[in-house]
Amino acid sequence: MNRSAHQKSAHVTTRRLLDMKQGGEKISVLTAYDYTMARILDRAGIDIILVGDSASNVFAGHSTTLPITIDEMIYHAKAVVRGVKDESNRAMVVTDMPFMSYQLSGEEALRNAGKIMKEHECDAVKLEGGRVIADTVKRITDVGIPVMGHLGLMPQSIYKYGSYKVRAQQGLEAEQLLEDASILEQAGAFAVVLEKIPSALAAEVTRSLTIPTIGIGAGVECDGQVLVINDILGLNREFHPRFVRQYVDLNTVIEQAVRQYVHDVQEKDFPSADESY
Ligand code: KIV
Repeated sequence: MNRSAHQKSAHVTTRRLLDMKQGGEKISVLTAYDYTMARILDRAGIDIILVGDSASNVFAGHSTTLPITIDEMIYHAKAVVRGVKDESNRAMVVTDMPFMSYQLSGEEALRNAGKIMKEHECDAVKLEGGRVIADTVKRITDVGIPVMGHLGLMPQSIYKYGSYKVRAQQGLEAEQLLEDASILEQAGAFAVVLEKIPSALAAEVTRSLTIPTIGIGAGVECDGQVLVINDILGLNREFHPRFVRQYVDLNTVIEQAVRQYVHDVQEKDFPSADESY
């Protein structure tokens, strides 16, 4: 078996991600919220599937990530894990801990991280925040649950920021972000998402850490990239931020298919004799 064939079949682990960083291999990450999509992503060779709390926006139609509950996240994550297992079982599955499932106390965070891991056998959880959640990250990783951090624009804090604009453009916030990344690494995080920060800062953070950085709107120097699946597939008509590369316009493709179906039903063109019993 050659090297790439071997890598295709092996489930991606935190160790593997470290090796990828050390070997200069970029890490690909996409979100997914359901079984069918998870199967496609795993088959296509994605390294990590993030069951993002962006499900709150793109799946449930809320305007922020705040309303989604831990049970709703577990529902999505169960479907994604099932999909990966039924495909090549290669992709690592990381589940977002939703707003207020880890902020109240270390004990509650640990209980909820454990609930997520036990109920759907994903590989890791993701939490937003730096020094403020460092003890919590340590507590969770100490019991053996891998934690991915998330710095820069943290959508769960949108009411504090008041907008989704680029973060850490100024001195103090940038310095703090650099420190926070290092604090998360020391607390045991295996990777850190950097969302919507200047490329130069993301590059500096990436160089300063042993663990991989995964960028979204953070430039090409990050060790990996993450995007929301609905965005790269062009499912949302209204959302076209600069950091998204849209690979296909599925919104239009689906609309056309549905229009054709409606037409075929109305015209009694469907079902045909071949499509009937
Ligand atoms: O919830 C999510 O989709 C995320 C990514 C955008 C990083 O956190």
